[in-house]
Amino acid sequence: MPSRTTALATAGLFAALWTTVATAQPAAERQRELVRLVRQDCGSCHGMRLTGGLGPALTREAMGDKPLDSIVATIFHGRPGTPMPPWRALLDESDARWIAERLIAGFPQEAR
Ligand code: HEC
Repeated sequence: MPSRTTALATAGLFAALWTTVATAQPAAERQRELVRLVRQDCGSCHGMRLTGGLGPALTREAMGDKPLDSIVATIFHGRPGTPMPPWRALLDESDARWIAERLIAGFPQEAR
């Protein structure tokens, strides 16, 4: 019965999509890499303590009232016409979102 097969396939697809959305956080190992990337690479412009340098401070105090989506967009696409580069070659969108969420909450230190 083709329609039943289609319905089952559709249900399966939705289940797969839902799983992807629900587990969109980067894995623990990737999270460690992202903390390192932000502390080292972003830190070269935003300050090793993220308190500002060439780029503005990325501390909880500075980021707390900014909309999450605009921070994600700035990280992913950069700010054309400013030194803030796009990071989409190195980060996928869930990485950028994870970083933005951590910046709003106060970015973690690198684990040693
Ligand atoms: C080459 C220097 C440079 C690097 C590297 C850099 N930034 Fe930036 N960033 C800037 C500058 C300059 C601005 C300010 C842009 C403007 O004038 O709007 C900025 C702006 C931002 C903003 C917006 C701040 C606000 O107050 O709206 C965020 C968020 C941000 N950067 C995050 C990051 C993250 C995360 C990384 C690393 C993945 C990073 N930046 C790496 C230079 C840099």
